[in-house]
Amino acid sequence: MNILFATSEAVPLAKTGGLADVAGALPKALNARGADVRVVLPKYEQIPSALLEHFEFIDHFTVSFGWRNQHCGLFKGVLDGVTYYLIDNEFYFKRRGLYGYGDDAERFVFFCFAIMEAVGYMEFRPDIVHCHDWQTGLIPFLLRTRYAFDPAWAYAKSVFTIHNLKYQGLFGIDLLKDLLGAGDDVFSADGLEFHGAASCMKGGLVYADKLTTVSGTYAQEIQTEYFGERLDSLLRYRSGDLVGIVNGIDVQAFDPMNDMALHTPYRSSISRKHKNKLELQRRLGLPQSESVPVIGVVSRLVEQKGFELIMATLDELLRDDIQFVVLGAGDERYERFFNDIAARYPSKAAVWIGYDDGLARLIYAGADLFAMPSQFEPCGLSQLIALRYRTVPIVRETGGLKDTVQAYNEYSGEGNGFSFTNYNAHDYMHTVRRALAMYRDEEHWKRIVANGAKEDYSWNRSAKEYLSLYSDLIPHRKEQEL
Ligand code: ADP
Ligand code: GLC
Repeated sequence: MNILFATSEAVPLAKTGGLADVAGALPKALNARGADVRVVLPKYEQIPSALLEHFEFIDHFTVSFGWRNQHCGLFKGVLDGVTYYLIDNEFYFKRRGLYGYGDDAERFVFFCFAIMEAVGYMEFRPDIVHCHDWQTGLIPFLLRTRYAFDPAWAYAKSVFTIHNLKYQGLFGIDLLKDLLGAGDDVFSADGLEFHGAASCMKGGLVYADKLTTVSGTYAQEIQTEYFGERLDSLLRYRSGDLVGIVNGIDVQAFDPMNDMALHTPYRSSISRKHKNKLELQRRLGLPQSESVPVIGVVSRLVEQKGFELIMATLDELLRDDIQFVVLGAGDERYERFFNDIAARYPSKAAVWIGYDDGLARLIYAGADLFAMPSQFEPCGLSQLIALRYRTVPIVRETGGLKDTVQAYNEYSGEGNGFSFTNYNAHDYMHTVRRALAMYRDEEHWKRIVANGAKEDYSWNRSAKEYLSLYSDLIPHRKEQEL
């Protein structure tokens, strides 16, 4: 079965968050089970040149959308057994960073059209195009409309995965009309229109054959008003086609036994893990101590991740004998808050503003606890990486955090982390304090860490669920290949 993953980011080429981890790891897991999954993404400037050496130019063509005719180059390369295609247009993608430009609508409308055209040059006929988030949301729409009878796409089906319902790709209707060259009919409430704007995400939600999201709990949550971002009624309407499949992580790429970013590789030895803690403290200028509990955060600094709770409680928590380390970038008010905390508590708190894969890994390895009290969390990969590195997560029971972290029960000895239900600063602080108390109790601590370490965070189970979803869509391919 041929699957084309259309995504705006994928490890190891370009990453801003968990979508890149998923688009990097899931194709490998699916291919290992007999599928032929290939990945297409923009040829951004930030793609490391060492990786570009694995690519060759295969063709170029013109992409026509609205009144525009834009050049598109197509590159192909194989990395770690997965075939990638890169969509090249220097005007749109030879820029710093991935998103956040005034013409993002035009950039990603171009990307969607370019993929529709590129398939004719790939020597690869997708049975399914699997689209991820708003940047590729218009592909299911195009598949049903302008490309409905295009021979390169004959019989193709589409799957749209919601990684985060909050980011919807909303633009003015006039702009989208101009970019798509579409008539008014497309911008009705049962089409792309959304509260007076045009929604790229609705291109996926309305037109894709199947919808998925990245955990079972989030699949339920987004059908409610609280989490539904005003799309809950549409999601309830499509609930028969919507499934939640929890993310895994690439357990080879995230392996404390084999991670070049660490000071000391380790599997089960806590004393070896602590060598990384000492190195983390050294790197961040904190006093070196094996015994002090270190709480880590690696995150985009955005409201979603629960920083309001952290801000309300950190001064009080830092009265205890703990250390708090943060790596992240995002909203300025959070950056300012953490810089201020680090200045006021130089021996207890350290912050690194920016994106740094190596430091992230050292935090996952060197911290004892990992804080992720998200307001909402479609899945969350950070808590899974933390668990893999024997670092105990403290989470709010929402979305994928609820599905992957079980609160430790000191009576039964079950559970791999700590959690609380309400989005409330006191509940969070109480949960951190309880985790710190358990940290100081060697027997309990060993148990919690061991519980976390014995679970399987790989893509094993979820890859099978995607395969069965795909084969339900294309039954004619089922007997042949599965
Ligand atoms: P989201 O996709 O919402 O940001 P996830 O938990 O799914 O959250 O995935 C986040 C991914 O991005 C993880 O791999 C995490 O380690 C990584 N990450 C987030 N912020 C940074 C940063 N500042 N530096 C390095 N890696 C980061
Ligand atoms: C989104 C979500 C995160 C999820 C990731 C990968 O960025 O915020 O919860 O893990 O996508 O699916």
